[in-house]
Amino acid sequence: MGFTTELIHAGVKPDPETGSILTPVYQSTTFVQESVDKYLSKGYSYSRSANPTVRALEEKLALLENGHDCTCYSTGMAAIQAVLQACLSAGDHAVISDVAYGGTYRLCTKVYQRFGVSFTFANSADPKAVQAAVQDNTRLILTETPANPTLKLTDIQAVSDIAQASGIPHAVDNTFLSPYYQRPLELGADIAIHSTTKYFDGHNATVGGAVIAKSEELDESIRFIQNASGVIMSPWVAWLTLQGVKTLSVRMDRQSANAQVIAEFLENHPKVVAVAYPGLPSFEQHELAKKQSDGFGGMLWFEVKGGVDGGKLLMDSVQLCTLAENLGSVETLITHPATMTHADVDEEERRRVGITDGLVRLSVGLEDVEDLIADLDQALEHVTA
Ligand SMILES: Cc1ncc(COP(=O)(O)O)c(C=O)c1O
Repeated sequence: MGFTTELIHAGVKPDPETGSILTPVYQSTTFVQESVDKYLSKGYSYSRSANPTVRALEEKLALLENGHDCTCYSTGMAAIQAVLQACLSAGDHAVISDVAYGGTYRLCTKVYQRFGVSFTFANSADPKAVQAAVQDNTRLILTETPANPTLKLTDIQAVSDIAQASGIPHAVDNTFLSPYYQRPLELGADIAIHSTTKYFDGHNATVGGAVIAKSEELDESIRFIQNASGVIMSPWVAWLTLQGVKTLSVRMDRQSANAQVIAEFLENHPKVVAVAYPGLPSFEQHELAKKQSDGFGGMLWFEVKGGVDGGKLLMDSVQLCTLAENLGSVETLITHPATMTHADVDEEERRRVGITDGLVRLSVGLEDVEDLIADLDQALEHVTA
């Protein structure tokens, strides 16, 4: 079956009691057992351990990423920490993409380092740098591609080969492209991670996370953490996300088409000094983007004349694009990573990896592209420098 058919139908059965076409919201803490001998005969005991609405989403996402199974979480960060907890113990080391969502860097440096885990933030665009970062005690390679916010790409196949040769799992944060455009497990990775807050939800309605594991063994160790740490997704969030997922391909195609037109417009604008979008032939890793993904996504960044001040003028002048954190939703959002999403990344580290103070991130939505361009055009007029 085609991917869009799977988005709508995969893992979802009409409710056996009523025939309801949508999986109901099973808003219940506990599940009555038939007898001590038949404990768990219906599969559920207590909603921290498993909930039927959340399971429906987990089964769907496992099918879409082509994994063994999936576990869902309260946020994308909770999903990432479940992977770290499942793979790492005190004394272990992990290799992490040097460009990733600021919260990932914060979790590693401000939390896990306190528990005796060490990290190398490697340039994952260069497989040789990843190989060089692997130590005897490395137990996890975690990459994010395309990376937030610079869109740096990791060659998933090449890094998965390195991980496999060292017997280490390779986890890929696939939030920016979703399985509609990129399926890391099919490219050799062991774990796919999502902030479902972004493209899966798509409507700025929820925060949530998901981890899809390729093997039963990995899924079991991650599922153990899901239950033990209790950072689960709620049934309501799972239900809303189940509705969002159905339109993922339609939204992403439109968002990518809009992003391509906007990137080309910005590239030719005299007040724009730099623009990056994987769909532009000028994008440094355009060939890799074409090789490992089926689309370029809805994220781009640019810098305007006048650096930080010029960027601030632009962001304060947009009227249709909304100045806000988050990405992947139907609304076009404009963000200043240095003061918003990546404020917790040390200034020196931000500079080193190219998250400049003037970088403006755009998450392109579903609006009519002419309206988005008109808005950016009028905002660029305010950029004086
Ligand atoms: C690539 C990526 N991964 C993970 C996260 C964290 O997700 P959440 O905000 O749902 O915790 C984000 C958030 O922006 C992100 O962009």
